[in-house]
Amino acid sequence: MIIRRANLSDQPEIERLLTQVCKVHADIRPDLFIEGKRKYTETELAAIIKDDGRPVFVAIDDDGTFMGYCFTVIEEHNGFNEPPHKTLYIDDLCVDENIRGKHVGRTLYEYVREWAKSNGFYNITLHVWEHNEKAKSFYNAMGMKIQLYGMEEVIDS
Ligand SMILES: CC(C)(COP(=O)(O)OP(=O)(O)OC[C@H]1O[C@@H](n2cnc3c(N)ncnc32)[C@H](O)[C@@H]1OP(=O)(O)O)[C@@H](O)C(=O)NCCC(=O)NCCS
Repeated sequence: MIIRRANLSDQPEIERLLTQVCKVHADIRPDLFIEGKRKYTETELAAIIKDDGRPVFVAIDDDGTFMGYCFTVIEEHNGFNEPPHKTLYIDDLCVDENIRGKHVGRTLYEYVREWAKSNGFYNITLHVWEHNEKAKSFYNAMGMKIQLYGMEEVIDS
């Protein structure tokens, strides 16, 4: 397996997996996600792939099979009350549903962690939906800890 930055030729496979992630989220929150859709349009995704401020990493098997991706966003923190630091935000991470549980996710995450370390980042952050227990177990296994809680009250009953 190799991990590398995504390019435009990866776009169809990235879109296929974006649809898988949307289904995971729609199964948990059908009020907020539409199964069969994906997070980004074709145009938006093409722009993200070319954006050095939003590196997308992909895992490719030795035979060329697309295995997974990790979307990231570079955040520069220079607020009045903040020590200046860089955060790498994981916007999305997905392994093809046919090959989960075979350490592709771990390999991708560890690659991204090393990339962040060698590029001077202070931390890695992400959001995970409540009830996405598999993803929570995965991130815990990677060594991540809860940083903050996102709260919600649905008021349109
Ligand atoms: C979450 C995800 C990226 C993990 O990738 P993966 O390749 O399946 O996971 P790995 O095989 O690398 O697992 C690494 C460790 O994570 C934990 N883990 C992974 N999947 C797990 C599961 N289904 N249940 C419990 N623990 C799990 C285990 O500790 C595992 O180590 P082990 O196999 O030595 O026990 C993948 O399952 C996925 O794409 N899920 C759907 C999309 C998603 O929810 N993404 C997160 C959005 S925030």
